[in-house]
Amino acid sequence: MISKTMENAINEQINKELYSSYLYLSMAAYFESINLGGFAKWMYVQEGEEREHGMKFYHHLIERGAHPQLKAIAGPETEWVSPMACMEAVYEHEQGITKSINALYELAMKEKDYPVQIMLQWFISEQVEEEKNALDIIESLKRIEAHDTAVLMLDKQLGKRGGD
Ligand SMILES: [Fe+2]
Ligand SMILES: [Fe+2]
Repeated sequence: MISKTMENAINEQINKELYSSYLYLSMAAYFESINLGGFAKWMYVQEGEEREHGMKFYHHLIERGAHPQLKAIAGPETEWVSPMACMEAVYEHEQGITKSINALYELAMKEKDYPVQIMLQWFISEQVEEEKNALDIIESLKRIEAHDTAVLMLDKQLGKRGGD
């Protein structure tokens, strides 16, 4: 048997995973709007994974004899000021998800709910990966930005050239 508290907490997590899917789909639309198809592709893959995460929790409830309760999914933002700002929002979002997965694990330990603990171990590793993926892209964008600055500096230097 799964406790009502645990069941409610998992229902909340289903909503968070489905919201994540919605958020990444919105980010894909943003990247499409600025013609960055590669970033959009990354977001489509991410969006699909988040739906699968939601389904893992959903099926867990069913396997435990509970009834998943689907709550309203909030509308995500639709615009970001830059690819960097968008990727930083991904990183921030994933850190929040990590916190909620950790809180679920603490609850499962408190309740001695071993099946939930086993299921969550996969999610704990997944969150390490999710945070790393977002950070790697942020690091690459930083390098590109640094390169842009270098080009601008060279541009300024070249602009100082006088006539022969
Ligand atoms: Fe997720
Ligand atoms: Fe995620």
